[in-house]
Amino acid sequence: MKLTLRIWRQPNTTAPGRLVDYVADRVSPDMSFLEMLDVVNEGLAKKGEDTIAFDSDCREGICGMCSLVVNGIPHGPDRGTTVCQLHMRRFKDGDTITIEPWRARAFPVVKDLVVDRGAFDRIIAAGGYVSINCGGAPDGNTIPIAKDIAEEAMDSAACIGCGACVAACKNASAHLFVGAKIAHLALLPQGQPERYRRVVAMVAQADAEGFGSCSNEGECEAVCPKEIPISNIARMTREYVKALVVAGK
Ligand code: SF4
Ligand code: FES
Repeated sequence: MKLTLRIWRQPNTTAPGRLVDYVADRVSPDMSFLEMLDVVNEGLAKKGEDTIAFDSDCREGICGMCSLVVNGIPHGPDRGTTVCQLHMRRFKDGDTITIEPWRARAFPVVKDLVVDRGAFDRIIAAGGYVSINCGGAPDGNTIPIAKDIAEEAMDSAACIGCGACVAACKNASAHLFVGAKIAHLALLPQGQPERYRRVVAMVAQADAEGFGSCSNEGECEAVCPKEIPISNIARMTREYVKALVVAGK
């Protein structure tokens, strides 16, 4: 396939950026989207030109590092898929593909398609941990937890912290990410000691980072590569109200 790529180039956080056109030739339908970008970068490097900066690590849909908006959709057109797991067979010869970084005030562009998602780390540091000694996996397995609760907690724990939910939301809200982290720990016995302090601290940190509010658009759930349900946001709101009203945090 021969494709035209319209790629966001921005030298650093403060410099203005713009879309630049590149031709990607002899693209195999079996390449992943990131492998296709690797080949484009090899061509640029051979010509002595500045290569396109983009994030990746595992390339297996696990780490949450890859973060590209493809034709206006965070992680591209396939549902429940990270952009590293998107394949070029999804596109047609002659297509033009626009590739942009996550866009949110709390995720400043570092260079080209790379954004700083340190705000998520600071939200986690504000309260996304348990202070008790949980022991190893065998200890965890000796605590009886109802199957439906364990499965619900695991579904929330599947969040990989990629930030696509923020990028898709017109308010740049981090509610799906924060809700998933809150729900995961609030459901399990190990998460109870800090349960109410945690939700107040994490919501306050998300506000301080400049993420917006939720207006129930549902865009976050639609683009989430781990298909985290929006019900996590409702649980977070309930936890927050309980923390303020019942626990007086
Ligand atoms: S909730 Fe989904 S989209 Fe948001 S950070 Fe977690 S995995 Fe990514
Ligand atoms: S590179 Fe790890 S999830 Fe895409």
